[in-house]
Amino acid sequence: MKDSIISGKTSVCGIIGDPIEHTISPAMHNAAFKELGIDYLYVPFRVKKEKLGRAVEGMRALNIRGLNVTIPHKVAIIPFLDKLDPLVEKIGAVNTVVNDEGALIGYNTDATGFLKALLERGVEPEGKNMVILGAGGASRAISFIITERGANLVILNRQLELDWAEDIARRIFQVFEKEVKALELSEKNLAMVLERADILINATSVGMSPNIDGTPVPTKLLKPGLIVFDIVYNPIKTRLMRESEITGAQTIGGLDMLVWQGAIAFERWTGQKAPIDLMKREAIKALGHEN
Ligand code: ATR
Repeated sequence: MKDSIISGKTSVCGIIGDPIEHTISPAMHNAAFKELGIDYLYVPFRVKKEKLGRAVEGMRALNIRGLNVTIPHKVAIIPFLDKLDPLVEKIGAVNTVVNDEGALIGYNTDATGFLKALLERGVEPEGKNMVILGAGGASRAISFIITERGANLVILNRQLELDWAEDIARRIFQVFEKEVKALELSEKNLAMVLERADILINATSVGMSPNIDGTPVPTKLLKPGLIVFDIVYNPIKTRLMRESEITGAQTIGGLDMLVWQGAIAFERWTGQKAPIDLMKREAIKALGHEN
């Protein structure tokens, strides 16, 4: 491992969002650059909604190599980019931008990172019955990639009247001609869909710090053999994960998705294989845990 020194040749990457002060991406990426001894730097930029266009122009003007994009810019950034990965065209949200000699290309590594985290644990979505809770940005990205991979999906969302879940289902049907059910997140519907489910994904913020006693699924509805993926990464082990494990279910946590989305972005910016274990350790450290 070399000491990192900023030079005249340093390539700059970063993250734009608002708020941004809680991001752990700089810790993860800078440690990875240092480990590989490459002349890169990763910095946070707080960018207000109304300044997004200017921030993207700034990326071009300053020749910034890469950006991660987080709330509230993931959808709004699309018109400012030059090219979109085919998956982004389908999902309609970007979390990674690569500046390829002046051409800004948008990717969604939330989606590919989620899939990678599943596959790495030996879970193949193809042909599986999957249930996803929530219909926000993360749910949208995950819903597209697992349907593309051949899963059968049901989306449960608390506010069906807002139509987000139905909107995702409709878009998926347009793109893949695959029926996706959208239902209200009620105990009755949960009981019904979990009976036939192979994989449950929590893509709501329920259980996230500081509300760590929350869980989106009553314990009695969990079952052995179910695979439970909770995308919440703080705490690293959520109440849903703890209760699922007690029931005999296999669990995967949001930290895996976080690290993989970062690793895939890292590889696009640097052309090098990401030191995934180190990135995971740094993410855990940055979250304030020792292991
Ligand atoms: P992200 O980018 O992480 O997906 P988001 O777009 O704010 O964040 O989405 C969060 C999801 O969690 C939403 O589906 C939200 O439900 P609504 O669309 O009804 O707001 C869901 N969510 C948040 N708090 C919840 C709660 N207490 N119970 C159930 N769902 C909840």
